[in-house]
Amino acid sequence: MSPRDRWYQDAIIYCLDVETFRDGNGDGTGDFRGLSQKLDYLDALGVTCLWLLPFYPSPNRDNGYDVMDYYGVDPRLGSLGDFVEFAHRARERGLRLIVDLVVNHTSDQHPWFQSARSSKDSPYRDFYLWRDEKPADADEGIIFPGVQDSTWTYDRKAKAYYYHKFYKHQPDLNIANPAVRAEIERIMGFWLELGVSGFRVDAATHLISLEWNERVAGETNPYDYLRDFRAFLSWRRGDAILLAEANVPPRKALDYFGDGTKLHVLFNFALNQKLFLALARQRKTALVEGLTDAPEIPSAAQWATFLRNHDELTLAQLTAAQQQEVFSAFAPEESMRLYDRGIRRRLPPMLADARRVRMAYSLLLSLPGTPVLRYGEEIGMGDDLSLPERTSVRTPMQWNAEKGAGFSAAPPEAFVRPLITEGPYAAARVNVAAQQGQPDSLLSWMKQAIRQRKSLQVFGRGHWQIVDSGHDAVFAHACHYNDDVAIAVHHLADSTAEASLDLSPWPDRQPVRCLGTEGVGVDAEVEAGRLPLALGPYAFCWFRLEPR
Ligand code: GLC
Repeated sequence: MSPRDRWYQDAIIYCLDVETFRDGNGDGTGDFRGLSQKLDYLDALGVTCLWLLPFYPSPNRDNGYDVMDYYGVDPRLGSLGDFVEFAHRARERGLRLIVDLVVNHTSDQHPWFQSARSSKDSPYRDFYLWRDEKPADADEGIIFPGVQDSTWTYDRKAKAYYYHKFYKHQPDLNIANPAVRAEIERIMGFWLELGVSGFRVDAATHLISLEWNERVAGETNPYDYLRDFRAFLSWRRGDAILLAEANVPPRKALDYFGDGTKLHVLFNFALNQKLFLALARQRKTALVEGLTDAPEIPSAAQWATFLRNHDELTLAQLTAAQQQEVFSAFAPEESMRLYDRGIRRRLPPMLADARRVRMAYSLLLSLPGTPVLRYGEEIGMGDDLSLPERTSVRTPMQWNAEKGAGFSAAPPEAFVRPLITEGPYAAARVNVAAQQGQPDSLLSWMKQAIRQRKSLQVFGRGHWQIVDSGHDAVFAHACHYNDDVAIAVHHLADSTAEASLDLSPWPDRQPVRCLGTEGVGVDAEVEAGRLPLALGPYAFCWFRLEPR
């Protein structure tokens, strides 16, 4: 792929769950018709690519990550025809579409599993992983401690134990079976044919992990499979991408990227966790480490940066002491934590200061990589801790101050999830209509920031370097691409700071401001290669370095 064609390095991804975005038929559940009505909004926001959470037929015991038919649409959300109509309209606006590919496991209600468990002779028996005896390590590596007991569960009908990395209703597929691999290709081929620009590969780490050598004759390196996976995708559609969920230490990233012949984009979980540690400490060191720990990646590869997603904010890569620091800053109460490693809150309630929230999104939009925003982040939606597990952060989108928040015309009791109706994040206060056209609102700021980000291709594509700021709480980094240079400065602390940026690597350039907290300018004289910068609490600024 020519560098010019790498659209994913310039993208702004927006992630949403169809069932909680907008209800088009008044039954209380979001659907493709409703989503289609909101394409103008998404277009005006400035995002360039939508990532849809699973919308396939499912018993919905894990928010759709338990698929029972890979070739359809959950009837609550519409028909395949509605999907195609929506995909067509999105494309007309130049919005790309990525869909979740959940093939580490199926639902236990999937016909393959139902057939597999019914008989040892079923053609689908080898689609899954069976053992006569419960393996000794069955209680290790549990993903959802507290709600999951084991990774091997006995099935009476099958008279055997089956493996499930996640909930017990999600049996893992046996990826070593060529017939399973062929099915995965068919699934990808199907959605590519319907116009999607790629897939978010769910649970990528687990997809290729279990007891690999035992399972695939002749295949000694589990990551080799990713090359075939990629090759298939690229043959079918040259500009399609794979964006993988892999919460792995930075040094493992190259196993997934290969030399640019495996996955295109990886979520930067390591950076995300270090970023929250830095926010908690109000000191930049952890964030600098988050960037410097990562290896140089192939030029065709890309990181996806994010603040929050639909799951808990996992802190699994931090030490126990570091986790405690983040917990005490952002989840002081037990009810805010989940699975012994994460936080089940949205960003604004955690940061609890509008200036700090903007600063965090400014980081998201300027850190090296492709930013991924989640629905509701652009207006500062909150969470509902009275809902179980991760549902706390999956409440309906808040469009206006009316009864159903513009999400649905159904009576609120019929809503797929309760709306947030109380407290500072209630739909009546935090909603799109109240912020649209208000120059000071988060939504207006987000639009402006996205517009600026799109004009600064350097942040998505460039090489980065840390810029010395002379201050512990002031994180500054520069990105350069071709002849362009941009610098972003973020003050992580709730105080004032006198920083001084080292611009000596660019003696022939002068700073020109692009975005930032009001009052923060770059007009001071550069003296001895340093630019003085006075920053208030949580202030930030982006500027270009232009030839004098
Ligand atoms: C991924 C999803 C998560 C889901 C899990 C099992 O981690 O992000 O929501 O529960 O996979 O599919």
